[in-house]
Amino acid sequence: MEVYINDFDDLGNGISRIENKVCFVKSALPKELVDIKIIKENKNYSTGEIVNIIKKSELRIEPICKYYNECGGCNFLHLVNGEEINFKKRKIMNYFNKLDNFYTTKNYNYRNKIVLHVKNGIIGFYKEKTNDLIEIKYCYLVKEKINKIISLLNQYKDSSFCGSITLRVNSSDESLVSIEGNYKYIDNLSNSNLIDNLIYNDKVLKGNDYFYEIIDNYKFKVNYKSFFQVNILGLLAIIKILKEFFKDKNFNTALELYSGTSVLGILISSFVSKVTSIEVNENATRDALHNVKINNIKNLKVINGLVEDNINKFHDIDFILVDPARRGLDKKTIKYLKEIKSKYLIYIACGIDSLKRDLVELNESYQVDNIYGIDMFPCTNNVECIALLSHKKT
Ligand SMILES: C[S@@+](CC[C@H](N)C(=O)[O-])C[C@H]1O[C@@H](n2cnc3c(N)ncnc32)[C@H](O)[C@@H]1O
Repeated sequence: MEVYINDFDDLGNGISRIENKVCFVKSALPKELVDIKIIKENKNYSTGEIVNIIKKSELRIEPICKYYNECGGCNFLHLVNGEEINFKKRKIMNYFNKLDNFYTTKNYNYRNKIVLHVKNGIIGFYKEKTNDLIEIKYCYLVKEKINKIISLLNQYKDSSFCGSITLRVNSSDESLVSIEGNYKYIDNLSNSNLIDNLIYNDKVLKGNDYFYEIIDNYKFKVNYKSFFQVNILGLLAIIKILKEFFKDKNFNTALELYSGTSVLGILISSFVSKVTSIEVNENATRDALHNVKINNIKNLKVINGLVEDNINKFHDIDFILVDPARRGLDKKTIKYLKEIKSKYLIYIACGIDSLKRDLVELNESYQVDNIYGIDMFPCTNNVECIALLSHKKT
């Protein structure tokens, strides 16, 4: 069936109309004429797949990655460089009607962490929306050192191994590898000079179960089970926005919610008299306590627990930073954030949909002053957003 693509949807699929019904076509670009087959028919919309491109967009390029059509990891490798940024800027504008600045990072080889799955001797990623593995020998998203380790894993393939391999690399290219499952060639990995730290079924076989990362002259311990931003240039953009915000302000009390290893809490500790970080992951909390100590921070307290169980203990707060997981804030936390009446609230979001939903809820008490975008996940349709809110004076 021949269709004309009018626009992109929010995920970067092409949108067409077939007899007044919307049809989403994966990898189709606006202004293209494509021959498609319908793969899913719903009441209000259908989903199509390209069979043949009849008229190509001038923005279309040959994907750099040979796994692109099967692997669900990237969404924009068929789009000319620069247009992905325009798509992300437009997306933020569509969601919030506001975009004060957008920070780009690096097109490829930016990710410092990936999780590979292994089954029947295949090391790779799951194909989009399936349990089938696609073998990956090189990934354009990850740092080169991670690709070298992927090659090493392919040298020592164990066809009976079924499990997962998490690869992390810090800014100095030190590696932290964690393997779950029974892997025949674990000693060969351990002996390789590509592997600096190796954890095998939660036991340290080489080095440590952590490494350090240096950011903005602070040193951060990161356990293999702790969250750390996957794109360091993106993290530096967050820090730039925070520093700009704090430049002309002097606060007494601050809360850092969903704090991980307290990277952001430590960075803002020089602008406020007292900061409290709240984080549920025990390893990340231990890292945070250690990071406070080694960076000689005297005004930051770390609480291990759920934000929603601890936030009601705080009153008279000047500044709150929230950086939740993709699902965003829960109802209890939103209720308390409204009651606390903090002068300012900064919301760092990797999930644009949950940010939008939560801003609607918070709108009763807080107004949105600025929205920033960061290209934290190049080649994918995810975009990191930062919302700067201030309390609506009552
Ligand atoms: C997106 S990460 C942000 C971490 C930190 N701000 C950073 O930049 O490194 C979210 C963190 O929230 C933690 N988390 C998730 N749900 C939580 C909850 N309900 N209460 C406390 N922490 C939570 C996760 O363990 C994770 O460390």
